[in-house]
Amino acid sequence: MQNILEVKNLSVGFNIEDNFYYALNNINLSFEKGKIHALAGESGCGKSVFINSVLRLLAKNARIKSGEVIFNNQNILNLKENELENIRGKKISLIPQDPFMSLNPLYTIENQLLEVVDKKDKNNSKTIIQNALEEVRINNIKNVLASYPHELSGGMKQRVIIAMSLISNCELILADEPTTALDVSVSNSILNLLLNLKEKGKTIILITHDLSIVSNYCDTTTIMYLGDIVEKAPSNCLFKNPKHPYTKALLAALPTKKGKKLENIKGQISPITDIITGCKFHPRCGCKLDKCVFEKPVLKLCSGSTYSSSNNSEVACWLYNQIK
Ligand SMILES: Nc1ncnc2c1ncn2[C@@H]1O[C@H](COP(=O)(O)OP(=O)(O)OP(=O)(O)O)[C@@H](O)[C@H]1O
Ligand code: SF4
Ligand SMILES: [Mg+2]
Repeated sequence: MQNILEVKNLSVGFNIEDNFYYALNNINLSFEKGKIHALAGESGCGKSVFINSVLRLLAKNARIKSGEVIFNNQNILNLKENELENIRGKKISLIPQDPFMSLNPLYTIENQLLEVVDKKDKNNSKTIIQNALEEVRINNIKNVLASYPHELSGGMKQRVIIAMSLISNCELILADEPTTALDVSVSNSILNLLLNLKEKGKTIILITHDLSIVSNYCDTTTIMYLGDIVEKAPSNCLFKNPKHPYTKALLAALPTKKGKKLENIKGQISPITDIITGCKFHPRCGCKLDKCVFEKPVLKLCSGSTYSSSNNSEVACWLYNQIK
């Protein structure tokens, strides 16, 4: 097992008025090469802050307080801006929720694709671009190349961005809710393209709040809540045997049987400016114990006979932390 990315003790927050608030708390995550890794949780739990920290694409008021982001034996957080340019879009690509963010509205698609072709391959650039666009199943290639981003649909723009990742031969693809703005059939075709990338040996970190996508496409799943990891596991374990009450609540909110009433998760996720002691999920948790209000549980491996069907699940919850 080889990890392409290792994030260690990452804490990130924002200056808001005269105070500093954490959006990520001491995150430790490793991403195995050649797999699709899901990062899931409700809106505001820190998914985008995480992904943007990896590429250091954070807002001006953000501060990375501690941690390491190790990619190819380099700590990205220590790189100079010009060294980062050799990684962004070249080794690690970002597929954003809104593809407009990655495409320059002033240039045609052809010009933008030409920019990502490696200098040594410039003589072959037309073929390389043609192959990449065919691979992402764009049929009317001539028209698409001559278009400006605003002339393409959302799904078509996401295909162009995935083609860019193919051309630049990025090893790691960070996909931040790449299908949220798309209808179901386009969304499925984009997800299938991500599966094709995995078959080519690429690693994908897929951010989503849709657990039905996770169960179908992802090898591992990490569930976040208010800047903490609350559960991480191989996806099949997590779906068969979820542990954390928050994971269970997210799964109970998924549509399953026709006509079955969906469960809502009680309450709402708090803003980062709210200070919550103990387990941050305690105001919404139906299983809370007295200590949950004051003591924060840490992420621990849940293995052994008690949890025999859930090898390698890690969970941060006193219901499990108590059992030796
Ligand atoms: N520039 C900023 N200044 C202040 N707070 C911010 C800033 N950017 C993000 N936040 C806060 O950080 C927290 C995590 O935000 P993030 O965008 O990572 O959430 P998310 O999990 O990606 O949510 P969504 O599913 O809606 O995209 C939120 O409470 C958000 O309001
Ligand atoms: S630690 Fe306590 S409050 Fe938090 S999820 Fe577990 S039982 Fe619920
Ligand atoms: Mg987000």
